[in-house]
Amino acid sequence: MTTIEKAMAMLPARGYLDMEIPGGTDLVAEINHMRKEKNAIILAHYYQTGDIQDIADFLGDSLQLARAAENTDADMIVFCGVHFMAETAKILNPTKKVVLPDLLAGCSLADSCSGEGLRELKKEHPDAIVVSYINCDSGVKAESDIIVTSSNAEHIINSLPQEQKIIFAPDRNLGRYINQVTGRNMILWDGACIVHEAFSLERIAQQMLDHPKAKLIAHPEAQKPVLQVAHYVGSTANLLNYVVNDSAEEFIVATEEGILHEMRKRAPGKKLIPALTIDDTCNCSECHFMKLNTMQKLYLCMKYEQPEILMDEEIRLKALRPINKMLELSKAIK
Ligand code: 13P
Ligand code: SF4
Repeated sequence: MTTIEKAMAMLPARGYLDMEIPGGTDLVAEINHMRKEKNAIILAHYYQTGDIQDIADFLGDSLQLARAAENTDADMIVFCGVHFMAETAKILNPTKKVVLPDLLAGCSLADSCSGEGLRELKKEHPDAIVVSYINCDSGVKAESDIIVTSSNAEHIINSLPQEQKIIFAPDRNLGRYINQVTGRNMILWDGACIVHEAFSLERIAQQMLDHPKAKLIAHPEAQKPVLQVAHYVGSTANLLNYVVNDSAEEFIVATEEGILHEMRKRAPGKKLIPALTIDDTCNCSECHFMKLNTMQKLYLCMKYEQPEILMDEEIRLKALRPINKMLELSKAIK
């Protein structure tokens, strides 16, 4: 059962999506009104569509969003991102209502790993601790010792004793990259992000020839050959900062295309070229899970306060420990 199938099984209905939105409804005005009336906060990941990014109270990458969820005093958290992110917000805020515009917004990485699967791997390596990327469901978090995001993974792994045996789940690409930059030999779960794995080294190499002044920047969820030729590798927030602060005027961006919206705003004069993917007939550099959320669904979700993220309390408490550990260990990271 995938994360989403489990979540759907817990929900009485998804009827809110069938509700009609009256013609002429000003979605922005209505969302603004409901946000005040319901004391709601809208948190959005950089991979959301531009209109959702623009209306959010807080826009960020996974680490920034986890921190925002930890610190909010809103009564309702409207999470514009994917399921594991909304679940993380719920783990941190058990008494608050957490809603996600489309419950089907999953993640290939989260679906690659289950709590049961991880328990089996732990049995094979009883002396290892488990460090999991935040892109996993609550069952996997509950089996983990520390959660990391792409912004703090290197820092956190470096803070662990060199001789500590580590299982890293579920992203093999991020894990391999962290092994390389930290000199570790972590045991890697074999999961991947369908978006970041779609980038084509061959086509990117041609883009680099066509744009000789452009710097290639890549997210560590991309495959090793792409990371090897990149001028800079970083989390979503770090890629954004790099484009804003680096002296280069052109960048080939090997990550989910949604981030280009904020890059264009913060670095208006710079040329941003989305990196090409293996299949030129698809929008493979867009995460179709993230893009399931729309302004219409955001409006309906705020109006009907559905679908709500619900979770077993025992799992929540187990999943909270490694998230808190991450928040504690990454205080030095901006
Ligand atoms: P970050 O937000 O940590 O960069 O992760 C990227 C991602 O794929 C989120 O799903
Ligand atoms: Fe998951 Fe990749 Fe989409 Fe992020 S971009 S939510 S890792 S499938």
